[in-house]
Amino acid sequence: MEVVIVPDAKAGGELVAQALAELVRRKPDAVLGVATGSTPLPVYEALTAKVRAGAVDVSRVRIAQLDEYVGLPAEHPESYRSVLRREVLAPLGIDEAAFMGPDGAASDIVAACQAYDAALAGAGGVDLQILGIGTDGHIGFNEPCSSLASRTRIKTLTEQTRVDNARFFDGDITQVPHHVITQGIGTILDARHLVLLASGEGKADAVAASVEGPVASVCPASALQLHPHATVVVDEGAASKLKLGDYFRYTFANKPAWQGI
Ligand code: GLP
Repeated sequence: MEVVIVPDAKAGGELVAQALAELVRRKPDAVLGVATGSTPLPVYEALTAKVRAGAVDVSRVRIAQLDEYVGLPAEHPESYRSVLRREVLAPLGIDEAAFMGPDGAASDIVAACQAYDAALAGAGGVDLQILGIGTDGHIGFNEPCSSLASRTRIKTLTEQTRVDNARFFDGDITQVPHHVITQGIGTILDARHLVLLASGEGKADAVAASVEGPVASVCPASALQLHPHATVVVDEGAASKLKLGDYFRYTFANKPAWQGI
C-alpha cells in the first residue's frame, strides 16, 4: 500500500479530493464510497469547493454508504444516512436518488444486509472508498476480529467505540446504539481503490499496526495490505509511530507527478 504523510488534515483533504475529481472526470457516474466520522470532512469540503468552482461535475456520481446504526430511524439526526445527507449530499448537490445505503431500521436486518451487498454489486461496485479508522483499528464498523472475508452484516459495537461515538449523542453513551450494519471487510476490499485517512496522535498506534503490522483480523484495517490499490493518507500525528515514515516521505516526494494516488 502507499502511505502519504501530509502536513495536516486540510492537505490530506485536498489530495484526496483531487483524486476524486480525477476519477469523476474519467468516469462521470463513478460510485463513491463515503465514510462518516470527523476525519473525512476535509475531503468533502475540498471536493465541494471544486464542484462550486466548476472544476468537476458530480451530477451523475453515485454515493454509497459504508455503515449504519441499527434501530435509529433514517430521519434521526445521527443516523449515518442523515449525517451523509448533511455532510456529502447537500454540499455536493447530489440527489437522494443517487444514494445507496443499508436500511438500519429494517425489520429483517439479515435481508437488509444481503440487499445492500446486492445493490452495491448491481451498481457495478464502488470505484473509490473513503475510510476512516477507529482507535482499535476498525474500518467501517468492523471491530477487531471481524472476519477478513466478511460481507455486509450486523455487528455489535465495542464499549470503546460507543464511548468514542457518544460525542455525537450529547455525550450520553446510553443513546449510542449497540448494533450496526457495516459493509464487511470482504465487501470493502471489493472497491477498486481504498483511501484510508487518519489524523492526530490518537490514531498513531492503529495506523502503525495497520500499515506495518501483520495482516490480522485483530486489526481490521490491516486488511488493506491485501488490496492492490490502497492509499493511506495520514498527518504527522497519525504517522508518528510509523518506523518507515522517512521512506514513505521519500517515495511520495519522488513519485511521478502524473501518477496521482
Ligand atoms: C466510526 C465510523 C468509522 C470511522 C470512525 C472514526 O466508528 N463507523 O467509519 O472511521 O468512526 O471516526 P473519526 O474519523 O471521527 O475518528
